[in-house]
Amino acid sequence: MKEKLEQILKLAQKELSEIKTIQDVEQVRIKYLGKKGELTVVLRGMGELSSEERPLIGKMTNDVREAIGAMLENAAQLVKEQEKVTRFSKETIDVTMPGVKFDIGNKHPLTVVLDEVKDIFLGMGFKIAEGPEVDTVYYNFDALNAPKNHPSRDLSDTFYINEDILLRTQTSPVQVRTMQASKPPIKIISPGRCFRYDTPDASHSPMFHQIEGLVVDKGITMADLKGTLDIFAKQLFGFGTKTKFRPHHFPFTEPSAEVDVSCFKCQGAGCQLCKGSGWIEILGAGMVHPHVLKECNIDPEIYSGFAFGMGLDRITILKYGIDDIRLFFENDMRFIKQF
Ligand code: PHE
Repeated sequence: MKEKLEQILKLAQKELSEIKTIQDVEQVRIKYLGKKGELTVVLRGMGELSSEERPLIGKMTNDVREAIGAMLENAAQLVKEQEKVTRFSKETIDVTMPGVKFDIGNKHPLTVVLDEVKDIFLGMGFKIAEGPEVDTVYYNFDALNAPKNHPSRDLSDTFYINEDILLRTQTSPVQVRTMQASKPPIKIISPGRCFRYDTPDASHSPMFHQIEGLVVDKGITMADLKGTLDIFAKQLFGFGTKTKFRPHHFPFTEPSAEVDVSCFKCQGAGCQLCKGSGWIEILGAGMVHPHVLKECNIDPEIYSGFAFGMGLDRITILKYGIDDIRLFFENDMRFIKQF
């Protein structure tokens, strides 16, 4: 029996020296130490031993069990180490391999132009202000000096939620909100979505974007308005751009003007884009009406200001020669990826 135990120990040792995986270690454990394993067989034979031999063989069996246990432990450790080394060597990064290309998106054309416009005005010291898209009749019309019979107030022009609440038709309510919430000097632009009851076609969308501008301080004149918008137009469309101010009417500005820029495609010679006129209308502007200043608790005897508003969609369409405003809102990647 003694020889048998010695043999078991040797065999286990030999087998463990050849194993490769953690499963192999387990196999060896079952084979020698398991319920039906080699050592159990030896123990079963103990009954046949004399009472002198039994404790000796018993002890020896235990020693062998412990020795095999320790060897199994070692072998498992070794295999684990080995597996780690192999895994690490597989994971080494070859820095000369070509990288994985990530499909990163790009900015929507409206965002591209909005960012440009923002940059220009931030560079001139303007801050960005925001206002709600769902606003009140008071902010959208009354406080902006729009008479009760103004056509834009009609049910067929504006989305009303109830008698007092509507989807803003312009970003101009932000002028009022800003003036009521702060004291001059004020110098803001306010980009945002606006809504009008328009049937969608190539040049109309019931949802569109405006960028409002407002400056209020002591001694602000029409010259400041003209200078600011002229510099803006030159930065956005190129330094050769000229501006033209045509008299117009807005309820909340007096005097009011529509502003044209010389056509940036034909430099004013006349082409399809400017319909042969050499000029393209890009915004509305004017000196803030004294009624509006008063409504906002700003004394028109002390302060004056100018405001302007432009359609972001229109400017983007002109800049990129896009022929249908609906393309902006269809989320077709084939369109959006071109910018
Ligand atoms: N809110 C005007 C519009 O929607 C544009 C505008 C803004 C005109 C500010 C003058 C001053 O047409």
